[in-house]
Amino acid sequence: MLRSRRSTLAVPGSNPRMLEKAKGLAADEIFMDIEDAVAPAAKPEARKNIVAALNEGGYGGKTRVVRVNDWTTQWTYADVIEVVEGAGPNLDCIMLPKVQTADQIVALDLLLTQIEKSNGFEVGRIGIEAQIENAKGLINIDAIAQASPRVETLIFGPADFMASINMKSLVVGEQPPGYDVGDAYHYILMRILMAARAYDKQAIDGPYLAIKDLDGYRRVAGRSAALGFDGKWVLHPDQVAAANEVFSPRQDDYDHAELILDAYDYFTSAEGGAKGAVMLGDEMIDEASRKMALVVSAKGRAAGMPRTKSFDPPAAS
Ligand code: GLV
Ligand code: MG
Repeated sequence: MLRSRRSTLAVPGSNPRMLEKAKGLAADEIFMDIEDAVAPAAKPEARKNIVAALNEGGYGGKTRVVRVNDWTTQWTYADVIEVVEGAGPNLDCIMLPKVQTADQIVALDLLLTQIEKSNGFEVGRIGIEAQIENAKGLINIDAIAQASPRVETLIFGPADFMASINMKSLVVGEQPPGYDVGDAYHYILMRILMAARAYDKQAIDGPYLAIKDLDGYRRVAGRSAALGFDGKWVLHPDQVAAANEVFSPRQDDYDHAELILDAYDYFTSAEGGAKGAVMLGDEMIDEASRKMALVVSAKGRAAGMPRTKSFDPPAAS
């Protein structure tokens, strides 16, 4: 199923008030954190808050995700068991941070399968979101993407990534001082995007920490959206509308994409003359135009956009 993930809202599991408030925000996805936004001493309580919030419901059509701790810690197994046993049917995906190898995905897949079986949950329904946050994860990304059919997204984790490669900057999302010849993140973003497209996953950009700087958020989100990313994290309610807008097609583009699809369907059919390349207004369209239109149309449909124009086949002469 193609889930819309234009905006992925991070909420610390240790904060019941924020878990409640998230229900009313227009984010496509909410992820409840037990990892880096939760202090070690607060992790057991966070698991409990999350189970209670998921079971209480009220998240509407949002994708409901829990971020567990990574496999190098002592917490992962208990995070997964407590949350999935406690709220499995009300949970869509587990987010696994700092993924370094395909084995780490396999381990989570096996654990999820056992929990699903022993609790009578549908086996395989819960997806995995993999965060790519260090050099090893990026180098192994192709294997990580293919390690389980549960993998739905590959997510760039810029803060951990910058730290792990010794990048000399403390400002997540902005260029490191001293680097003045392009975008220091281009390779990482493109590598993630290539794996996502090669293996049919969603590519998600990570957080922008300067939450007061909405123009900065839009600028950085606009870059990954332009490359082809499907969405970006939001850390504050003000970032939600910006993400939804930046990662949706513009209304004109969405209408145009749907027109291309309808026109191409019509003109390639026997009724429309079985043509391969045809004119739509002043524009020549062919099979490659249809493929590009499919991308824009899929994003618009997933975002629930309305169509404001329809295709009228030429009147029979
Ligand atoms: C997110 O987890 C990040 O490290 O940027
Ligand atoms: Mg991180």
